[in-house]
Amino acid sequence: MSDTAVQQFYRFHAYVYDWTRWTILHGRRRAAAALALRPHGRVLEIGCGTGLNFRYLLEYLDPAEGRLTGLDFSPDMLKQAAKRVAGSGWNNVELVQGDAATMALGRQFDAISFGYSLTMIPAWPAALERAYEHLVPGGTLVVLDFGRFDKWGPLAPAMRTWLRLNHVETLRPYEDELRKRFNRLEVHYWLGGYNFTAVGRKGT
Ligand SMILES: C[S@@+](CC[C@H](N)C(=O)[O-])C[C@H]1O[C@@H](n2cnc3c(N)ncnc32)[C@H](O)[C@@H]1O
Repeated sequence: MSDTAVQQFYRFHAYVYDWTRWTILHGRRRAAAALALRPHGRVLEIGCGTGLNFRYLLEYLDPAEGRLTGLDFSPDMLKQAAKRVAGSGWNNVELVQGDAATMALGRQFDAISFGYSLTMIPAWPAALERAYEHLVPGGTLVVLDFGRFDKWGPLAPAMRTWLRLNHVETLRPYEDELRKRFNRLEVHYWLGGYNFTAVGRKGT
């Protein structure tokens, strides 16, 4: 199967990602806190990229008992993530190459996070469904991503277009789709709709 446009995009961007994205990707610590992780918990980050969220997630996990799984379909991003994991000496982090829309890991997680990845996945409803299936009853799903820039006036269309050129689609009905699965869902929009966090708990 040939690479998707997003995989091709990250073939180059993987190498500049860490020193460019800090300017635009915010809210990592807040999203990690919303996952309500326990020391022995198992957490999955979908679209983990180079692993910039790992240190925030690992703060909540016991190194011997807690486990973090990072899934991404870009081999180039995963290569950077693997370097970060090895360099940091994290022994409880596992990296998996796979497509969020079709993943079948054969186990469930206490918490699942999408960090600036859902808006890049063309088959995003399928990715949400797979995430829901991989969540234990009572587990928490957190989505951190770009919003619609609702309060940005004339700058809003420019921001959305710029993001679309970078494979990020902000105008899909993410909140509605999440509400179909999570009747307990809290959504907060930040900075006039620059980004949002959605926190859902799977019914028991
Ligand atoms: C903007 S990066 C975010 C990376 C990381 N979560 C962060 O916060 O820095 C989006 C990531 O989603 C991954 N991605 C996009 N579509 C995907 C899919 N269908 N399955 C798995 N990963 C995907 C990309 O390869 C990329 O690494």
